[in-house]
Amino acid sequence: MSDIMHEIEIRRARRALDTEPVREDILRRIMEAAVLAPSCFNNQPWRFLVVTGEEHLSKIHANLPGANYWVKKAPVVVAVAVRKEDDCTLSDGRDYAFFDAALAVMNLVLQATHEGLIAHPIAGYKPVEIKEALGIPQDYTLITLVALGHPGDESHLNEKHLELEHSKRDRKPLEEVVFRNTWAAKE
Ligand SMILES: Cc1cc2nc3c(=O)[nH]c(=O)nc-3n(C[C@H](O)[C@H](O)[C@H](O)COP(=O)(O)O)c2cc1C
Repeated sequence: MSDIMHEIEIRRARRALDTEPVREDILRRIMEAAVLAPSCFNNQPWRFLVVTGEEHLSKIHANLPGANYWVKKAPVVVAVAVRKEDDCTLSDGRDYAFFDAALAVMNLVLQATHEGLIAHPIAGYKPVEIKEALGIPQDYTLITLVALGHPGDESHLNEKHLELEHSKRDRKPLEEVVFRNTWAAKE
């Protein structure tokens, strides 16, 4: 198995995080991996706000729904923000800012995995409140928050999350989503 497949396979959206801080050199490598992602016309629309320290993290904690309680253990949360107009906007709704930000986030996630960390993107938060609290201008879309940290104790996870932590990968069969030469989507 090639090295990159190893990281792809072992990566999971785990929730059992430790509060131990992430070393600055590791954080740097993770963010460098993120910005090496390709983007339309090399527009690099992504903006990352790396949030650490109780004073700053508390602004995020105050704006999480109950189900994302586990994010409060993360010593780092990376806020990812983009503006549609900072990247290619082509016909039929092809706005590449979101696509390109996702490519960068996946680089971030894989490098974090390589470093032995958990990197878990989430969509469940109050975007308007968090943008305001972190000083992110309103015309940016806060597309995801990535909870980042070392693997930790699972005892604070609820029953559902505890089960998911050890669950098998849940994916549609390849034939349902990958076609060869002829479009074959069922729906
Ligand atoms: C854009 C995005 C948003 C997500 N939002 C949340 C979230 O708010 N809370 C959560 O616990 N997990 C969240 N997840 C994790 C997914 O549920 C998880 O990636 C999916 O179930 C597949 O599991 P796996 O990553 O372990 O393969 C999110 C993942 C992505 C990519």
